Amino acid sequence: MKKQLLEFMKAIGEDAVAVIPAAREKTRSYDTEYKFRQDSDFYYLTGFPEPDAIAVISPSDQKAPYILFVRPRDPEMETWNGRREGVEGAVKNYGASQAYPIEEFEKRMPNLLNGKSKLYYRFGVDDKLDRLILQYLSIQRFRRLKTPYPPHTIIDPTLIIAEMRLHKTPEEIEIMRKSCEIAADAHILAMKSVKPGMSEAQVEAIIEYHFRMSGASGPAYNSIVGAGANATILHYVENSSILKDGDLILIDAGCEYKGYASDITRTFPINGRFTEAQREIYDVVLEVQLECIKATVAGVTVQQRQELSIELLTEGMKKLGLLRGNTKKLIKEKAYERYYMHGVGHYLGLDVHDAGRYFLDQQATLSRPFEPGMVLTVEPGIYVKPDDEQAPAKYRGIGVRIEDDVLVTEKGNEVLTSKVPKHPEEIEELMNSKK
Ligand code: GLY
Ligand code: MN
Ligand code: MN
Repeated sequence: MKKQLLEFMKAIGEDAVAVIPAAREKTRSYDTEYKFRQDSDFYYLTGFPEPDAIAVISPSDQKAPYILFVRPRDPEMETWNGRREGVEGAVKNYGASQAYPIEEFEKRMPNLLNGKSKLYYRFGVDDKLDRLILQYLSIQRFRRLKTPYPPHTIIDPTLIIAEMRLHKTPEEIEIMRKSCEIAADAHILAMKSVKPGMSEAQVEAIIEYHFRMSGASGPAYNSIVGAGANATILHYVENSSILKDGDLILIDAGCEYKGYASDITRTFPINGRFTEAQREIYDVVLEVQLECIKATVAGVTVQQRQELSIELLTEGMKKLGLLRGNTKKLIKEKAYERYYMHGVGHYLGLDVHDAGRYFLDQQATLSRPFEPGMVLTVEPGIYVKPDDEQAPAKYRGIGVRIEDDVLVTEKGNEVLTSKVPKHPEEIEELMNSKK
């Protein structure tokens, strides 16, 4: 049994049962499916990698506190669609106390739910299971049998699991280190390979080739490869333009390794040399990024770090001539949003925008301080649209973001993606050394 599951059991308590479903396969087109990705919460608790599975967790059940319903072994299905762990594998390899074929879930559900006051279940994700559970509970409401009662309190387990996921264990940190290392090497490879005339798609392919060659399952999110003004579109994923001499390229790409995401952005000149104007914007973003990394330490709050990024970027935009006026007033009026319209970072883990609340209280008024064991991105940027007539002409069409992944430690922090150059001289040196 995973130690995460033991901790979850403690959190839900004796008088409860949790029903946690795996992700389902999704149709891509006609009779082909998207590559399967396990539900992050299910994976976090069980490690079980297959679709069509349900975990039933009953801490007070001495004999079977952890039951897995799974696809049974089936030689014919396995010949067509791949191997299955089956009920034997669920017990032997994933620590289930008992396992049954998924088809038996409906029949066994009443016995598993009844007698517990609380049901931990997340509605709104799996329609079929939602209906099954709701129908059962609503029928039970009208019955007056002298049998154990069904749960009367339904609690969403998301928050409990999210709080656990937010604080990474040493084992998770090791995996994330590797995820970050693979992504860092992919960015280095891209920096060495990029030249005018290539397509964004080819750059994407180089990055993702490295991911797969290094043991990652693939990208953790759709890779963003934006050359020239495409870098000013935040979630640009068409990746179909040709790289032009004299432009910058922005690459935001991270891999998924053993389920864990990395998330790196680098922006660099396609021909290996920054122009003066590019360098001016770049230096502002880099300076802000370095300061915000310093602020990613225990005790500083999410909001303080966001405000720091806003203040420094607003100052920087003034220096560049993108904004004019009193800094405080510009901040109050959110003038910076014209060029910096996203947050400075987010939690990172099994999901690229990982689980965990950003506020301490239910009213979302108390910003949360960072704690050792959290992993966050730091990703300020400045994006000047090509048709922005308010901006100095030399800056139009330039987009710069620099993003690293940072582990908060007892002593300060550790930048898990520091291997990829980000100082302009280092980038230029790397890009020109291979030519
Ligand atoms: N790649 C998504 C993000 O940086 O948040
Ligand atoms: Mn990010
Ligand atoms: Mn990113």
